[in-house]
Amino acid sequence: MSAIGNDIDHAAKLLSEGEIVGIPTETVYGLAGNAFDSNAVAKIFAAKDRPAFDPLIVHIGHLSQIDLLAKEIPKSVKSMLEELWPGPLTVVLPRQSIIPDITVSGHEKVAIRMPSQTMALELLRNLDFPLAAPSANPFGYISPTKARHVIAQLGDRIPYVLDGGDCDVGIESTIIEPMGVDCNVLRLGGLELGKLAPYFNNFNRMLNKSSNPSAPGQLAKHYSPRKEISVFERKEEFPESNTATYILFDSYIEGIPEKNQLILSKKSDLNEAASNVFSFLRKADEMEGNEILALKLPEVGLGPAINDRLYRAAAK
Ligand code: TXA
Ligand code: MG
Repeated sequence: MSAIGNDIDHAAKLLSEGEIVGIPTETVYGLAGNAFDSNAVAKIFAAKDRPAFDPLIVHIGHLSQIDLLAKEIPKSVKSMLEELWPGPLTVVLPRQSIIPDITVSGHEKVAIRMPSQTMALELLRNLDFPLAAPSANPFGYISPTKARHVIAQLGDRIPYVLDGGDCDVGIESTIIEPMGVDCNVLRLGGLELGKLAPYFNNFNRMLNKSSNPSAPGQLAKHYSPRKEISVFERKEEFPESNTATYILFDSYIEGIPEKNQLILSKKSDLNEAASNVFSFLRKADEMEGNEILALKLPEVGLGPAINDRLYRAAAK
């Protein structure tokens, strides 16, 4: 069983020795290892049962580190990152050869992000290497937003989890691939696309298009609970059930026991809904009854990114 605590120096020591460690970020907990150490990265893939074709995001603590990892970075992209980092945004850029193949699954590009979570940033700034970190869940299952989620799923496979409390954002980073004046969107996430509008002319949504995806965040089935889950556009479409667990945006449905209804944000706040969605999916998975019924959220703000998680969880 792994230890859990808030000792950043201990986490740094383990990582320097080639170990892997659960770390908090503002989006979801990550399973981190030295991005330059093939053995450490191999441990990440093994602990998650992650297929080798699914590349990892490399996390940095200073913007200047980006030149070590990526090349041909347009000035406009750098000035965008000065504004938006640290935060829930990942950029995919041509990679430098210092990054081992295993970290990027042999791709010519690398995904990079600077997290804003205080302990994560302090840890990264104490290390002299960047951290490769996927979400700290077994491949395909719900991403962790609390340290105890990491322990519950990977506790027997990793020596330490750095506990930074609950993740503020609660869904993974937005992933983009700058393409000159345009931009490919590889994953909707914690940064609304509206915040990127000043920097690009057009956004191409590359979501869920291929069976051999360049961003397996695009895989149709992902973020899945064990139970059957279905998503509906309107509450009138719900099948009748006294045993299902309902995941709803901001209000209860009359005539259904309240204990079976999980409300993502009673104050109709989509940011709060995002921060709750993964832990509610887990809760629903652990409750009685054998199915989960979710209601699609409004398609504004973080709504599309939350709906993306719900629909992928429900994909067959
Ligand atoms: O918020 C996040 O991004 C979290 C925290 C821990 O930072 N990390 C995360 O990692 O969600 P992961 O591995 O669960 O999802 C990363 C996604 C995958 O779908 C992967 O395919 C895509 O990023 N990706 C990574 N490197 C890529 C690359 N070079 N080109 C295209 N997609 C890439
Ligand atoms: Mg993941």
